Parts: sequence; C-alpha cells; structure tokens
Amino acid sequence: MKERSPEAVAEALEPAPRLVVPDSRRLEAVVDDLRIGRKVTDAAFDAIYPQQIRDLSARHWTPVAVAMRAASLLAQDADTRVLDVGSGAGKFCLVAALTTPGRFVGVERRGHLVDLARSIGERYGADGAEYLHADIAEVDWGTFDAFYFYNPFVENLFGGRERIDSTVALDPSRYERDMALTRERLMEARIGTRVVTYHGPRAGLPWGYELCDFEPCGSDVLELWVKVK
Ligand SMILES: C[S@@+](CC[C@H](N)C(=O)[O-])C[C@H]1O[C@@H](n2cnc3c(N)ncnc32)[C@H](O)[C@@H]1O
Repeated sequence: MKERSPEAVAEALEPAPRLVVPDSRRLEAVVDDLRIGRKVTDAAFDAIYPQQIRDLSARHWTPVAVAMRAASLLAQDADTRVLDVGSGAGKFCLVAALTTPGRFVGVERRGHLVDLARSIGERYGADGAEYLHADIAEVDWGTFDAFYFYNPFVENLFGGRERIDSTVALDPSRYERDMALTRERLMEARIGTRVVTYHGPRAGLPWGYELCDFEPCGSDVLELWVKVK
C-alpha cells in the first residue's frame, strides 16, 4: 500500500465537534445518588454527556460499576495519585472521584474530550479529578502511585466506525510505540505501584509486577498488579 504523506493524513482529520453539556436537575440527582452509594445505571449516568459522547460509551468508556471497583483497588487512601492513561471524556476519573478518596488525573490527547471532562467535573463538583491535555509521553509518570488502563491504545488498530472519531491520527505504529513506552515507564515505577487493567492488554505487565487480584467485572475482568521487585 502506498504511504500517505503527513499532509494527506492531516487533511483526512476532522475538526473537533462542538459539544454541549446537558443541564438538568435530574442529572444532579443521578450524580448525588452515586456520591451516596446508590446504584446508578450506565444509561442514567451517561445522560450527563452530550449525545455524541453517550453513543460511544458502551464501547469506549468504563462502565460505572467497573470504574467504582477499579478505583477502590487503586486508591488506598486520600493521598493516592492515580493516572488514568487515556482518559477520554473523563468517565472513569469522574466516577472514581465521586465515589473514592484519592486524586484521579486523566491524560488525554484529544483536546475536545479534555475540555468536556473539565466542564463536567466543574459542573458536578468532582474536585478529586483533573485532566491533562497531553500525549502519555509528555507526562511525568513518576509522580503517580497507581495507573488505570482501559486498553487505551487499541483504537489505533481499529477501522473507521469503531473509532472514537477522526480528529487525531491513528495507526498501528502508534500502538506499538505507546505499548513500549508504557512498559518502560512501569518498569521504572517504584515498588508498591498499583496497576489496574480492564480489557487487557493481555500481554501482562513487565517483570517485577505480581498479579494480586483477578475478578470478573463488567464485560471482562479487572486485574490488579502490584510492583513487588
Ligand atoms: C478506551 S478510551 C478510555 C477512556 C477512559 N479511560 C474511560 O475508561 O472512561 C481511551 C482513550 O485514550 C486516549 N489515548 C490513546 N492514546 C493516547 C496517547 N498516546 N496519549 C493520550 N491519550 C491517548 C484516546 O484518545 C481515548 O480517548
């Protein structure tokens, strides 16, 4: 296949969509239910997002119950700093911050999703969550105690309709680069670092990590890995 020039790739990218945050008392009640530990369905929770983002939820954002359990495995106390590697519209960080003590930071390369996550966080007073508009390579992983992965790089291997959108360049070489960088950063992490994965990656973690918990959750399993060596 003929390679496309960087200019041609740039031309194929779409502009970021305009996202309007829905506003209603009913949504505040849903978020309050979550805060006080009542069961909230994904359909009810996802209504805080604009329709385009809601439509992506089943495939791309962590379900509420999975986010709550993953957050409780990651954050041991209020001082734990957790990085959500590829935070999308902020669903994991938001649910985590509303239900678990701990500081949740999302890093996301799509600026419009970061803007949306920040607006929603402010709207609902989720003070324990914040978002960085950056590539994972630009973040200092050493300032975090724990990491969450909902298979963030696999979209690089997907075809058109399965993607979140076409506002950023996606290709298999980025998948390889991001996986390699992740392995490197996790190898450098300090002993005691906690990692939770949902939907893989199946290759396991680098040497020195021990699988401490493996439980069916949502449509897959949650794996908790702890760095012991
Ligand atoms: C499957 S979504 C998960 C979203 C979020 N963690 C959740 O569960 O609600 C993965 C996100 O990772 C982001 N991502 C992928 N590669 C990235 C990179 N190299 N740097 C920053 N963000 C990245 C994508 O843009 C996408 O929004």
